[in-house]
Amino acid sequence: MTQPLDLLLPPGLFPPGLALPAPPRGAAPSLFDCTWKHGGSDEEIFHTISEGVPGTQMPPWKKGLPGGAEDIWKVIAYLRSASTCTVNPAPAH
Ligand code: HEM
Repeated sequence: MTQPLDLLLPPGLFPPGLALPAPPRGAAPSLFDCTWKHGGSDEEIFHTISEGVPGTQMPPWKKGLPGGAEDIWKVIAYLRSASTCTVNPAPAH
């Protein structure tokens, strides 16, 4: 299942006027199910968002968010709070 990014980021998480590019519809995996291709621990998700996924459209965000690492942790907290997964995250594979 895929999810457009405009459903990913809640209003107010980032300062007004900051435009985040959304992946093309269907291009990026859902971040709200139990499947984490690159690892589902907080640390692994932080690493994926921070460094991006080389060779894919997923860019590194470590220098792209105004609040730096703090913003990445806010995004992870949001992903957890809005997740539809009711079991422990699947391990990376
Ligand atoms: C702040 C915005 C974004 C966040 C928080 C985010 C987060 C993530 C995370 C956590 C994953 C890994 C999912 C997993 O392990 O199953 C991922 C994968 C991916 N993202 Fe993003 N992403 C963002 C923006 C974007 C944008 C703008 C694009 C494209 C223009 C994009 C394209 C992708 C793609 C293609 C993948 C899959 C990579 C693969 O094939 O392994 N993402 N994203």
